[in-house]
Order: sequence, then structure tokens, then C-alpha cells
Amino acid sequence: MIPTSAPNLSELARLRELARHSHTVITQHQDPGGAYPAAPTFSAYRGYAWLRDGSFTAEGISRYGDVASAGRFHDWVDGVLRRRRAQVDDLRAALARGETPSPEAMLPTRFTFDGQNGSDPWWDFQTDGYGMWLWSVITHAARHGLDLARWQAGIDVAVDYLIAFWDRPCYDWWEEHVEQRHVSTLGAIYGGLVAVAPHTSTPVLEVAGRIRTLVETEGVHDGHLAKWLGSSAVDGSLPSCVVPFGLVAPGSQLAGGTLAAVAQELDVDGGVHRFTADVFYGGGQWILLSALLGWNLAAAGDTVGAWRHLRWIADQADENGDLPEQVGHRLLHPDSREEWVARWGTVASPLLWSHGMYLILADELGITDKDA
Ligand code: BGC
Repeated sequence: MIPTSAPNLSELARLRELARHSHTVITQHQDPGGAYPAAPTFSAYRGYAWLRDGSFTAEGISRYGDVASAGRFHDWVDGVLRRRRAQVDDLRAALARGETPSPEAMLPTRFTFDGQNGSDPWWDFQTDGYGMWLWSVITHAARHGLDLARWQAGIDVAVDYLIAFWDRPCYDWWEEHVEQRHVSTLGAIYGGLVAVAPHTSTPVLEVAGRIRTLVETEGVHDGHLAKWLGSSAVDGSLPSCVVPFGLVAPGSQLAGGTLAAVAQELDVDGGVHRFTADVFYGGGQWILLSALLGWNLAAAGDTVGAWRHLRWIADQADENGDLPEQVGHRLLHPDSREEWVARWGTVASPLLWSHGMYLILADELGITDKDA
């Protein structure tokens, strides 16, 4: 018999309750206009919604069965992008004239809830979120049999933007190293373009093929995907290139090598660090990355490994059931923690992306009561 590490009844009840609470946290804080705030009470994130966080959060909510909440998020992104049509057309025209638009001219990383850039400076620009949104909205529509026409205009803006600018260096998932081309960013764009292929007349698969060739040529080191093209480092976001984005075929040697490298270098007790040099809040273990690795293990048939991550995550919830961005039991660089606390206050909690990823892994392991 295959060991499943299945929980007993009381543990199952606790894990289901955390799923129910995760759904409540996300929907309770959803802006009436549809945006999912990254972390409603955290000073540096308050008032802003990221496409990256929101796309994964919407996937968790979609899997949980709350079609309306996820739909409202996609309506919001669609509306924001429709209003950016002229900006994207101008950017493409500049590119066609041989110009390189400045990072400030590009679409932002995060938006205020009314779809503006906001006045606080941030690490713009980042392309991954636009690919993630394409993957998220198309996956949601397919899962629930919805007509994509509702979001088509926004989808077309995202496609045009990515087709023009997919190969530009930009900040990564962690809003760092703007000078590099990051493999997880390329993976998210690849996943979005492949998902959208049946729904656009733009030749997106041609670009997806170029991304794959580029990563295979310059983004692999020692049998695993690398943090950026030409790097030898590992990053906790890299499993996303396998599941869900499929840049690397699940079950392939490169997929196995990547999951193994992340587990070996970044996983401690089931909690996954971002990368070994991470100093943000001392470099703790991230809930959402533990769920991402668990999701990959579940998809690869390692149910025992996936349960280990789900349990670790559940153990990090505070007395209200809230999940933070990261926890500091095993800091990589403890001396760096204090400067971040002084700058921005204690770690963001609840972080909606953490709750969304818990919902994904819980669904993957079949434990959620879909009662939304
Ligand atoms: C993280 C990003 C995230 C943002 C909002 C940043 O600290 O590096 O990945 O999108 O917070 O949650």
C-alpha cells in the first residue's frame, strides 16, 4: 500500500478549519472593486494589490469553489488592464521605433485598488504577474466552465505587453536584481502564454518556445534550474516552473533536479526559505513557498512529502488562524531582522497569498470542504 500520511479525524478537522478561515480572511479583505490586498494591515503593502499575489490567491479561492470572489478579482484585473490599453500601445510603438522604454514607463508591479500606480515608490518593473494572471484567469474559467469573453480585452492587453517585453531584465518575484533575467519570471510568462494560446490569434507559442530554449541554454546549472540566467544559485520560487507553469515537464530529470535542489538548500523542517542570501526580516521560512514545494510534490506523487509541508504550514498559524508572510524560527541572517522591523514593523500577517497557497495545497491533498 502507498503511504499517504493521512491525518486522523481531529487533525483533518483542524486543517479544514484553516481552509475555511483562509477563505474568510481572503474574502473579508477583498476590496469591493475586486482587488485582493496583499496584506491589509502591513504598513508597506497597505492599499495595494499585486498581480502576483492575487493570481495565486484567486487560484486558491477558485479551487475552494468561490467562483464569485475569484471572478470579481479577474473582473478587477481586466478593468485595470483595459484602461492600460493606450499605455501598452505606446510602449509597443516605442519598441518598434528601436527605443527602450524606461522601467518607470512600464506597467507597475502593484496597483492601488482603483487601478492607479499609487504615489509610494516601489520596485517597478516586474513582468511575472502578467503571465500569472493569464494562467490564473484561464484556469479559473476552464475549471468552472465560464465564458472567457468577459475578460478577453484585459487578456489581450496582457498578451501584447508580454509578447513585446518578455525578454527584458526586470525585478524578480522578490523585487530584487532588476539587471537580471529571472528564470521564475520567465516560467510565469511561459505558463501564461501557453494557457492563453487557444484564446488568442497572437503567435504566443512561438515566444513560449523561445523562452524554453533560452532557459534550457542559459538557465540550468548542475541539473537544476537557476535563479537567473547565468547564475548557479537556487531560489524557492523555481518549483513554479514545473507546477503550475510547465516550463519544465513534470517528472523530467530537470524537474526532479530542481525540486531536489530547493529541498536540499532551502527546506528546513518543511518550511522553505527564498534563497540562501535572503536578508529580508533575517531570511525566514515562507508559507507560500512551502505550499509551492508541497504542491509540486503532490503533483509528482509524493503525498507524504506534500503532507509534511501542509502540516508545517498549519503549525505556523497564529491564535486567530492567520498565516504570515514568513516565520523566523530558523533565520538565515538573524542580524538583519531588526533593521526591517524598525523600517516596516513586524512581518506581514495575515498575508493573503499565504492563505491562498494553503487553499491550493489543501485542495491538492483533497482535504477541503468546498462549502463556499
Ligand atoms: C515580496 C513579493 C510580494 C509582496 C507583496 C514582497 O515583500 O517580495 O513577492 O509580492 O511582498 O506580498
